[in-house]
Formats: sequence, structure tokens, C-alpha cells
Amino acid sequence: MAKKRILSGMRPTGKLHLGNLHGALENWVELQNNSDFERFYFVADWHALTSDYSDSSCIKENTTDMIINWLSVGLDPTRATMFIQSSIKEHAELFLILSMITPLSWLERNPTYKEMKTELADKDLSTFGFLGYPVLQAADIIMYKANGVPVGVDQLPHVELTREIARRFNFLYREVFPIPEPLLTNVPKLLGIDGRKMSKSYENSIYLTDRGNVLGEKIGSMFTDPQRMRKSDPGEPALCNVFAFHRIYSPPEEVDEISMECKRAGIGCVECKRRLADRISEKMKPVHDRQDYYRHHLKEVWEIIAEGNIRAGNIARMTMEEIRESIKI
Ligand code: TRP
Ligand code: SF4
Repeated sequence: MAKKRILSGMRPTGKLHLGNLHGALENWVELQNNSDFERFYFVADWHALTSDYSDSSCIKENTTDMIINWLSVGLDPTRATMFIQSSIKEHAELFLILSMITPLSWLERNPTYKEMKTELADKDLSTFGFLGYPVLQAADIIMYKANGVPVGVDQLPHVELTREIARRFNFLYREVFPIPEPLLTNVPKLLGIDGRKMSKSYENSIYLTDRGNVLGEKIGSMFTDPQRMRKSDPGEPALCNVFAFHRIYSPPEEVDEISMECKRAGIGCVECKRRLADRISEKMKPVHDRQDYYRHHLKEVWEIIAEGNIRAGNIARMTMEEIRESIKI
């Protein structure tokens, strides 16, 4: 039996942060251990253009950076195909065809469309491409006949739309596409250093590349339990974002100890944050070492991408043949 396929992508709109790592990438890495699946992970650079069209100068650099970071956190080119959306021109053809069969109303009621327009209010997003964002995403997914799409909850509406579009194609022409399932990640709730959602537009992120002093200073400036003004006040770890990070980065005994000491005002926030910075540095050390390695071996990175593009392109060409036959064009 043919292997099931898993596919996911990310937009290269900026540096990756710890939210991306725990919210998505760790899951991608984890899925590599299941030999029932084939995996495809791609950089959605055309999708980056939907919001960054007026200044596209960083997309290319962000794309290479993104792949370097994927490799650094443990994506393995022998077990996952990594490729670049814009290198596989078939995505554009399928996007066009799907746009013919997608009712406008499906796109207009898409919740992320409305949300992103408000969130990115400084950009003019009243474009055809931005409204059609989920149609391109549907093309990305069904091109590879993906069965599973590992994403965060924020992407659920897009996967749902993909399912509807795939069903509609199958109904109108011929049963070509499996209906993909979202594979939700169990995301620990990690907030940015100011206590809001970690997002590069809020400038509150800890990046995968942050280390040394930069990392120490960011953690030093994190918001803590708002009720705890002085070191002599007892704190409440459950209300503290620093503690949420300790839960991920520190061993269980240390987490328990910090919780106890915080509640009885035995540890101060400065000390608590210093320990967190040490733990994150320790955990990220191998990632940072691999980042350094790949930055000095860019040729290797480009070869991995070229190889991935070839594998993805072969599948995309076959699917497009089938699609053209189905619609008799
Ligand atoms: N919309 C996704 C995001 O912003 C990126 C994306 C594009 C994607 N195409 C995809 C994710 C296909 C999964 C599958 O994160
Ligand atoms: Fe948060 Fe640590 Fe301060 Fe307690 S001691 S409030 S857990 S930073």
C-alpha cells in the first residue's frame, strides 16, 4: 500500500521563535519517527508575498534561514522532503484551477481573512491574492495528496477550506484527492516576553537564534507574576510566564523547587530568570551549533533544497497530469 503523506509549510516572513519551535517544528520532527508516513515540509514564499508584497526584499534570505533553522532543530533530509513553494510552478497552475471552483463566499467568511486584516492593519491587504490565500494553501496540500496536515489551531479554518475545495473537485470532475486531516499540535501555552501572544509583529519573541547576552536580557525583561512587587512578597507561579517556560526547559525537580520557593518568597525573580536563561541556553546549544555549521556550509543547504525540489516536483508533475486529464484541458 502506498504510504500516507504528511505535508506542512511555513511562511518565510521573519525569524523563527520558540513559539514556532514548540507549536509546530517539534511536532514535525517527532513525525519523522513514524515510518508509515512520507513527509513534505516546504517554505511558502509565495504566501509570504500576500502580506509582504510591497517589500519583498527579505523573503529570499528568510527562506534560506528558515531551512537552516529546520535542519538545526532536527528535520532530517533523509526522512523529510524539504522544498520551496515557488520552485514548483505547478502550485500556481493548481491554484488557478482551484480558484475557478472556489465560491467567493467561502473565502469572504474565512475567519483568518478578517483577523489578519485587522492584525496587519498597517498593510493594505485588499488584494485578490490575499483573499485567495487559502486557495493557494489548498493547492499546496492536495498537490501532494496529503492525508495529514500538522498545524496549529490558527490554521484550522484553512485546512477546513482545503477539505471543502478537495471535495468539490472530486465531485465536479473525478475522485482525485484524499480529504486531508488536520494533525493538531498539543501546544504548550508560551507567551512572549511581555505576556502577549509570541509574535514577531509585537517584538516580544525569543528567537531560535538568540543566545548569550541577547537571550539573557530578553529573559531578564520578562513579565512575571504581576502581584509580586518585592522579593519578600510570595509569588504565584501559575500566574507567571517565566514559570511556564521553566516547565518546558527545566527538569521536574527544579520546576517543583522553584514553585515552592516562589510561593514562600524564597527565590527572587532575578535569580529565577537567570536559572531559566541557563536552562534555555543549555537546551538550545546543539541547535545553535548546527546553525553555525549550516551557515558555514551553505552549499550543503542548497543541495538539500535542490534535492527536495526535485522530489516534490516529480510528484507535482504527476498530479497535474491527472488533474488536466480530469478536467479535460
Ligand atoms: N498558512 C500557513 C501559515 O501561515 C502556511 C502554509 C501555506 C501552509 N501553505 C500551507 C501550512 C500548507 C500547511 C499546509 O502558517
Ligand atoms: Fe515567576 Fe520565578 Fe518570579 Fe516566581 S520567582 S514570580 S516563578 S519569575
